[in-house]
Amino acid sequence: MKQIHQLVLLLILFASLPGPLSEKCLSRSQKLHYYLATKTPYRHTSNNNDSFVHYPGCNPVRIWMMIRHGTRYPSAKVIRMMQERLPQLRDAILQNHKAKRGTLCYEETAELQTWSPHVEEADEKRLAHEGEDEMIELAERFQNRFPAILPDIYTNSTFKFRYTATQRTSESARHFAVGLFGRRVSRYVWFPEAIYKDPILRFYKLCHRWRLEVDKNPESLSERIKFEEGPEMLAALKDVSSRLGFNQTISIDDAVLLYLTCSFETAWDHRARSPWCAAFSENNIKVFEYAEDLEYYWIDGYGYNITYRQACPPIKDMMQYFQNEDVTQGNEDPKAVLYFSHSGTMLKMLSHLGLYRDKQRLLHNNFAALLRDRKWRVSHIDSFGANLAFILFRCGKQQKVLTLHQERPITLPGCPESELCPINILNKQYRDSYLDCNLEQICNTV
Ligand SMILES: *[C@@H]1O[C@H](CO)[C@@H](O)[C@H](O)[C@H]1NC(C)=O
Ligand SMILES: *[C@@H]1O[C@H](CO)[C@@H](O)[C@H](O)[C@H]1NC(C)=O
Ligand SMILES: *[C@@H]1O[C@H](CO)[C@@H](O)[C@H](O)[C@H]1NC(C)=O
Ligand SMILES: *[C@@H]1O[C@H](CO)[C@@H](O)[C@H](O)[C@H]1NC(C)=O
Repeated sequence: MKQIHQLVLLLILFASLPGPLSEKCLSRSQKLHYYLATKTPYRHTSNNNDSFVHYPGCNPVRIWMMIRHGTRYPSAKVIRMMQERLPQLRDAILQNHKAKRGTLCYEETAELQTWSPHVEEADEKRLAHEGEDEMIELAERFQNRFPAILPDIYTNSTFKFRYTATQRTSESARHFAVGLFGRRVSRYVWFPEAIYKDPILRFYKLCHRWRLEVDKNPESLSERIKFEEGPEMLAALKDVSSRLGFNQTISIDDAVLLYLTCSFETAWDHRARSPWCAAFSENNIKVFEYAEDLEYYWIDGYGYNITYRQACPPIKDMMQYFQNEDVTQGNEDPKAVLYFSHSGTMLKMLSHLGLYRDKQRLLHNNFAALLRDRKWRVSHIDSFGANLAFILFRCGKQQKVLTLHQERPITLPGCPESELCPINILNKQYRDSYLDCNLEQICNTV
């Protein structure tokens, strides 16, 4: 008994000693990768159950997919900040640690010590290696689920690929093709020439009114800015600053740069850990995530109705493609339509469909109310490689549709829960998207 007491006493003594033994590496226990907003790598979102999908009495006949490009490198502006500002911050943090300020543990500072920026401006917005893998593996899983409509033998008439005029979407399409047909055959896949303002893949580039009233309107950013000046962000900034050993609160710009770097470095390298993530606790990073959610909500989501009303062209394209199957069964149309585009396309489409809409609007002052169970979380719905798939089944005389977002079945408004959606319900629900998709009218400024 006495011995045990002594042992316990010894343990307590040890645990309270200063130095490496008592230091806790906070970042090791935090699940930060769930909160990286649109820079979340797809591996944290994907559904790896790729078993054959079967609905009794039904056969898959067509698939239509919209896919956001995989993990990319940052914009030139962010790369420059990573190269210029981060080394200064790194050195200051290491100084702080030397002077025993801050609460980073030994490993965290050691990782920071050996950190240097390894992106160059030439990489700006290019698809990263991780993004290539994301696309290859996504294609493989979809092929396993639906081998009849995504066969591994390529013919030009079976597949319709299309991407925007950017390196990241064209490379995403090419790697998706690698996943379907293998590296050698994928070289012969035919891709149409990209259109700069693609009316289906980037309809918003053609929408003058949206650009004027939303995209270029400073008001769209006001909720984010107010949130960045509010009490939750101030508390997070203070916490981050004291963890890093600064006796003054770091600026929001520096903090957002740390958040972005933590996100990108997590996304593009699945083996290494980004030392910059150690700046954040899980509670801190949720605040930065909400700032991102606010921005996307007001620019690409439910904030202004023009934003999602203009998103009818891809929906109309999908509906038309499915209707053709009914009119001319076994016609010459491709079995698979595969579109590669951007975050802005995905979010506007999801909003057009009425998905992930919270009862409350996202505002600078309702973070607490929306903290749990918020539907509009771009970390989940708009990660790198985010994808929305509509699969048309023929069930005897009937056509039915399965909708997968991030490879998981979702229920569209009006459709029955957890079963295929009869096409007439879908057609009724999105009747206007089909019949009333007049961008001239929606997008013209009066
Ligand atoms: C995997 O997916 C198939 C088809 O969607 C489903 O039937 C099966 O239950 C899933 N398996 C697991 C372990 O979730
Ligand atoms: C593939 O099909 C498209 C039409 O869908 C056609 O324009 C193109 O020339 C074809 N390419 C090849 C290599 O056959
Ligand atoms: C803050 O830290 C700096 C060194 O980084 C030091 O020179 C300064 O006196 C400190 N200020 C306060 C108020 O502690
Ligand atoms: C869209 O919003 C504007 C105000 O921002 C409103 O005047 C208009 O009625 C709304 N249109 C629809 C179709 O809800």
